[in-house]
Amino acid sequence: MKIQIINGPNLNLLGKREPQVYGSVSFESYFEGLKEIYPGICLDYFQSNSEGDIIGKLQEVGFSCDGIILNAGAYTHTSIGLHDAIKSITSKVVEVHISNVHQRESFRHKSMIASACKGIILGFGLHSYKLAIDSFVLDVEKSPQH
Ligand code: DQA
Repeated sequence: MKIQIINGPNLNLLGKREPQVYGSVSFESYFEGLKEIYPGICLDYFQSNSEGDIIGKLQEVGFSCDGIILNAGAYTHTSIGLHDAIKSITSKVVEVHISNVHQRESFRHKSMIASACKGIILGFGLHSYKLAIDSFVLDVEKSPQH
């Protein structure tokens, strides 16, 4: 099983950025822990501050991997291009947020990508990513071939 994690703008600063909202752990260090929890899953991590690069990554992996976990950061709330990219690929995408965006400013309440995604997990800190992996694992366990 191959799962691609994609983080959008400013998420390279996790650990330093607004720790009261996003915690004090860097994504790189959380990701090392995730790989230890799921040794049987091929987990890949990509981060970009650029919308076009995120669309490029979705197109690159979106016909071959078993699942994509996307935290599009602020582009979540603005990007029709990301919505269209998610609709254009065959891999299922789970939208993830570290914070509970519905408890925050009203401009974060709208997601442009939600309707294109399989599901949404938000508000569980970095564990939102683990829960998203578990959602793909559950899908595989439910499949008839399993
Ligand atoms: C975020 C929430 C977004 O509103 C924000 O722009 C981010 C991070 C989250 O993970 O909580 O950059 O996606």
